[in-house]
Amino acid sequence: MIKYAFFIKSYPMNTIKKIGLFTSGGDAPGMNAAIRAVVRTAISHQIEVVGIYQGYIGMIENKMAPLQMREMANIIQRGGTILKTGRSAEFLKAEFRTTAAKNLKSAGIDGLVCIGGDGSFKGAQALWAEHRIPVIGIPGTIDNDVYGTDDTIGFDTAVNTALNAIDKIRDTADSHDRIFIVEVMGRNSGFIASHVGVAGGAEEILTPDNVVTVSKIVEMLKDSRARGKTSSILITAEGQKPGRAYDLADAIRSKSNFDAKVCILGHQQRGGSPTAHDRILASQLGAAAVQALIQGKSNLMIGIAADKIVEVDLDVVTKKLKPHDNSLINLARMLSV
Ligand code: F6P
Repeated sequence: MIKYAFFIKSYPMNTIKKIGLFTSGGDAPGMNAAIRAVVRTAISHQIEVVGIYQGYIGMIENKMAPLQMREMANIIQRGGTILKTGRSAEFLKAEFRTTAAKNLKSAGIDGLVCIGGDGSFKGAQALWAEHRIPVIGIPGTIDNDVYGTDDTIGFDTAVNTALNAIDKIRDTADSHDRIFIVEVMGRNSGFIASHVGVAGGAEEILTPDNVVTVSKIVEMLKDSRARGKTSSILITAEGQKPGRAYDLADAIRSKSNFDAKVCILGHQQRGGSPTAHDRILASQLGAAAVQALIQGKSNLMIGIAADKIVEVDLDVVTKKLKPHDNSLINLARMLSV
């Protein structure tokens, strides 16, 4: 008996009877797979699950309904989120968080699972800090810009969706000997851009943390023409201002004879059936989130690091920025000679 004592956890007995589950921020493919995992794990442990619709908006406006085991059928392969999602400006104010907490308590909810990005986690963290409602976060965003996890639900699908489009653009770029600037999503982050850039054989990748001057780009294009290249693909993350690819094309035109075509991939990157990778990740994180609540834990994000499920304090997740490693950008440059 003694040799197993090491494995006995010192958490209190499960007191969770009803979990509130919501998706928040931008939707991401695989959110439904995570919902399915949370609901089915919870019900298997005799815990009820209440779906909260449109994220924090539904929490404030009391848009909630119980979720059943069988409702989870045939959603693992669906993009979007059956719980809908939203970005709530009201939830940034303490008075609305108090209303939300009252709604949760009168619905008998004694634990929350939040599927979203770091903005959504700030709200979850506040519910724990101000109202002591236990919360567990699951990272779900196509941007992959959440500190403490190598991967977020939806990132792999978004990269593959963008790549699919870029492969097609390459055909027409090659036929016409053209330059294309392809704009991918990523408000503050360059993860989609750098991954898509390497996988799509791009010559240059522009991200919020890799600012390249127009003169450098023109120089690179001239060099590549001198080496015999007839077409080029440049990738840019949208940054704070979607449509910046047009500004870049104008700037290149004004400094050279190059006429770059623009393709903005936009919100198609947020939709579609999740890849196997995202479905598996969502299933693992969803099940682990319920286990964490059962063990009496709170204010944690369940993530993945070096292929292992990890628990990271939400106070850390929401304070730190995930570093973007520019080595993929350098690799794309080197391999696109
Ligand atoms: O969810 C992340 C994201 O898709 C970013 O890449 C993008 O900048 C932003 O959301 C767009 O948000 P919205 O659809 O609310 O305009």
